[in-house]
Amino acid sequence: AYMLLNGELIERSEGKIDIEDRGFQFGDGVYEVISVYGGHPFALNEHLDRLFESARKIYMNIPYSKTELEDGIKRLLQKEKKNNCYVYMQFSRGTSIRNHIIPKTATGTLIIYLLDAKQIDEWKQKGIKTVITEDIRWLRCDIKTTSLLGNVLVKQKAVEKNASEAILHRDGVVTEGSSTNVWIVKDRLIRTHPADHFILNGITRREILSICENHQFRCMEQRFTVDELLEADEIFITSTTLEVMPVVEVDGQKISGGKPGPITRKLQSLFEQEIQ
Ligand code: PDD
Repeated sequence: AYMLLNGELIERSEGKIDIEDRGFQFGDGVYEVISVYGGHPFALNEHLDRLFESARKIYMNIPYSKTELEDGIKRLLQKEKKNNCYVYMQFSRGTSIRNHIIPKTATGTLIIYLLDAKQIDEWKQKGIKTVITEDIRWLRCDIKTTSLLGNVLVKQKAVEKNASEAILHRDGVVTEGSSTNVWIVKDRLIRTHPADHFILNGITRREILSICENHQFRCMEQRFTVDELLEADEIFITSTTLEVMPVVEVDGQKISGGKPGPITRKLQSLFEQEIQ
């Protein structure tokens, strides 16, 4: 397998990163995961914009143009001859003598490589189990940073209970999942948390919002509580890797009779049309 390291296409096993890379020591970096369908990275432009936006928010300059990053991804896809996979791309602040202060001279480390796609068809059919847990993360969840320990720890809460995702709340208000955005449907009204600093504004989330608008679904970016979550007619989560994923259980309680609901099904199929 290959990787791009600072623009150079090399064997993955040849990739060397300094032990004082700030991505390694501080989680001081930003990243994107992009789905490739039929050889084409989905919503590539939006993902690249968000990468630059995340970098800007942590005072980091990415010394590549969007076109250079796009070309890199295409080179890698051609080399690996992969049609369905994920692109992982990460830009860290680079190597500098260990010190919390942001270095002025580090030039950053860019890595891009391909990950195998998860098989999610069965999950998409049946829906998944989730748990509710406290959102213990920091207050800048809008930044897609490689500092993911909070996300890792809450995901573990789900794993311990044999569930696939942790739904997070702050003082009883649902924010998002450990690596997904969360949606509820009640009386045909679809709701998801507004895009502020408490959540990552998912690319899939934006796609679903625009599908709702184009197909006259009633949909609002509005906060909802854990109680409203538990009383919802339907729940689903969205992300690059899980697409539109029905939630059929929360903390052992069945949702929509333990089966994916009709609006979730409709959004799944509309999203599938977008990615084809
Ligand atoms: N996760 N919220 C969080 C905290 C996320 O990490 C993600 C993405 C999302 C959904 O965003 P998008 O629709 O742009 O994928 C929401 C990626 C896939 C990951 O870390 O693997």
